[in-house]
Amino acid sequence: MALDLFSPVKLGNIALQNRVVMAPLTRNRAGEGGVPQAMNVTYYEQRATAGLIITEATPISPMAHGYPALPGIYTDAQVAGWKKVTDAVHAKGGKIVIQLWHVGRISHPSLLPNQATPVAPSALKPAGQAFTYQGLQDYVTPRALDVAELAGIVQDYVHATRCAIAAGFDGVEVHAANGYLLDQFLRDGSNQRQDQYGGSLENRTRLLLEVVQTVVNTIGADKVGVRLSPVNPFNDMRDSQPQQTFNYVAQALNPFNLAYLHAVEGGIHGGGESEPFDFATFRQLFNNGYIANLSYDKARGDAAIASGHADAVAYGVPFIANPDLVARFASNASLNAADSATFYGGTEHGYTDYPFLTA
Ligand code: PHB
Repeated sequence: MALDLFSPVKLGNIALQNRVVMAPLTRNRAGEGGVPQAMNVTYYEQRATAGLIITEATPISPMAHGYPALPGIYTDAQVAGWKKVTDAVHAKGGKIVIQLWHVGRISHPSLLPNQATPVAPSALKPAGQAFTYQGLQDYVTPRALDVAELAGIVQDYVHATRCAIAAGFDGVEVHAANGYLLDQFLRDGSNQRQDQYGGSLENRTRLLLEVVQTVVNTIGADKVGVRLSPVNPFNDMRDSQPQQTFNYVAQALNPFNLAYLHAVEGGIHGGGESEPFDFATFRQLFNNGYIANLSYDKARGDAAIASGHADAVAYGVPFIANPDLVARFASNASLNAADSATFYGGTEHGYTDYPFLTA
């Protein structure tokens, strides 16, 4: 029988009861100090029938923040808050990994300790505006990181990974997509360094591989995923040769024997047209599990799995509006429509009050 979204699968050490993955979704509803609060526990618990939940992108340090009301994964209080989330998801039979995030230049001094200047591979100001507690404000020119500082950032990933283990997560996903710090190093539109972290593909990939190596050493390769977005122009991103760049990155990740590679197969947030890209080839170059993401519906998800393109499919917006998305797919039920006005920030409304199917 052909595989489909309801076939169980193991991604590394993580056993999924189905292949319907909840994509990482920024919701800006953490409590004081970046501590997950009661409504966050309810939100994730409601979605525990997903084969795997990937949490919202979660800053690994105070300098990794770029939006209001994000949860963190670097203080004891944050760990205690997340532990309630993982316990609730596990009690419902679900699996959950945390997405480790450093935003790099996609931030604003008002969101950083002591009004610090955001950091980046190169001092190149992204076009656009930051979401701050004071409203939209123009991005500033970031400060280019010194080589000596990069070891500290790698260490922040280790600390966050240890926190993730303490919080009971089934694994971690290294966020190297969507124009944030690690992606800023990968793509030549944002990386104009002349040292060993810029220029050649080997050099632009260096920081990602250092981070992955140290995260793997901390938690084990079979609990680590990486997210990439080869042609997503969001956050003012571009690369002169995306196919060559990301085919190289996919292959460079093979020696780690990771749980999975997770790909955003296009552009998000209407950030502009994405360039053509051969995701079939990209996927084939990676030896382990592959999670496909972006605008899949049930039929296309089943087809991607049946054809062998993907081992699992991540759904974002459908999971915002349908906590029981798996049950709805299983019974071919209609889906609740998502209300974009309540995506970012606010209360339980538009967060934990979307209706479940009634029996
Ligand atoms: C967002 O907040 O819009 C956002 C966050 C993380 C992503 C992509 C978008 O990877």
